Amino acid sequence: MWKSATVYQLYPASHHIAKLDYLKNLGVDVIWLSPIYRSPLADMGYDISNYKDSDARYGTIEDWDRLLAMDLVVNHTSDKYIWRPGKSVFQGSAWEHDSTTGEYYLHLFVSKQPDLNWDNPVVRSDIWDNMQFWRASPQIDVINCISKTDGLPDAPLVDRMQYYQPASMYITNGPQVHKYIKQMHTEVLSQHDLIMVGETPFTHEASGLAAYVLPQNREFNMLFQFELMDFDSRSESPLLKNFWTLGELKAIIGRWQRFMRDDGFWNAAYIENHDQARSVVRFWNDTAQWRAVSAKMLIILEITQMVTLYVYQGQELGLKNFPRTWRIEEYDDVASQIYWNLTEYQRQKAQGKEAVEMFDILDSFAQKARDHARTPIQWNAGAHGGFTTGTPYMRVNDDYPEWNAEQQIGDETSVHAF
Ligand code: NOJ
Repeated sequence: MWKSATVYQLYPASHHIAKLDYLKNLGVDVIWLSPIYRSPLADMGYDISNYKDSDARYGTIEDWDRLLAMDLVVNHTSDKYIWRPGKSVFQGSAWEHDSTTGEYYLHLFVSKQPDLNWDNPVVRSDIWDNMQFWRASPQIDVINCISKTDGLPDAPLVDRMQYYQPASMYITNGPQVHKYIKQMHTEVLSQHDLIMVGETPFTHEASGLAAYVLPQNREFNMLFQFELMDFDSRSESPLLKNFWTLGELKAIIGRWQRFMRDDGFWNAAYIENHDQARSVVRFWNDTAQWRAVSAKMLIILEITQMVTLYVYQGQELGLKNFPRTWRIEEYDDVASQIYWNLTEYQRQKAQGKEAVEMFDILDSFAQKARDHARTPIQWNAGAHGGFTTGTPYMRVNDDYPEWNAEQQIGDETSVHAF
């Protein structure tokens, strides 16, 4: 059943609690939520400060009992939760100084997301306990990063022009990763009927990823692998656009369709989520003439694969990126803000003068920033697209008066109907 399921990803900050009928009418089999745990929202809920409570903005634990699945973020935590001293002291972008202890802690993501030390059995047993509490089918965030190379070495300097250096060989598929996931399977998963999806960024090597999925290994049902998500990015940052060809796109999809199929390897197909810009912009043509056709064509591309299908909220409406004219202030995502500030700093340092506007970066952000997937769903042509009568946490895309759910529902030629 899970193989033929359609999973719909809901991003709670930009959806609408009163719109559950909309989901019912879409005919989705599984709802997957981005995190609703209690969080200071440094990374929109991917920084959890209480693993056993929900954020009041999204409802109560009793509400949760009526729902199904949520992103589980256990590579790292919120810095408002538990602080654990690192064994080594390094200085650099992945290490944050703590003045109370005089030591540093590791954070693969922002400094408000300290990594958890999975090598500590007490941490692991806490995680199993949290998973039992939610009894949900998890999508496990950056699961290939939970075990790091022994000794936590610094990544080698390979490109002096870049602030960040490639480090995936030290932070992904580490020595204990499969041991820990198998333990998770024994302690939690085998006791429930759950669908398990692991998110595996920073590495595309199929044979390495196979171990997470092959049925005899008893780990995950499928992965969110990143090859298709990364091939239109420059190596320095997923926020910078790279040029690609249709041949490359076909080769990637074809390769994963065939990969170890006879051995039981199974794929999750996704072309959008809350970390990716809208697919009509990235992969096809969002001009007025072609937008709806492009969105439908991309839907065909997804549903004709032999996969478990993941649809991200708004994809079924052919939502697109917000305009290039929006300024940096409209980009709410911590990834956009950090990249912008870093580049601003580097530019000032290099030029020794006042910052000039960085039009080139906004050109790339307009194509690739995560923010485009996070604007509120445009329900109708009313104020803020019917999302709120108050102030939305992000501005609603400018096209909501003429491109919204209400207008598409009932129109048999719409993307939604298709
Ligand atoms: C992947 C999540 O999807 C993304 O939103 C988050 O920023 C990182 N993992 C870190 O948790």
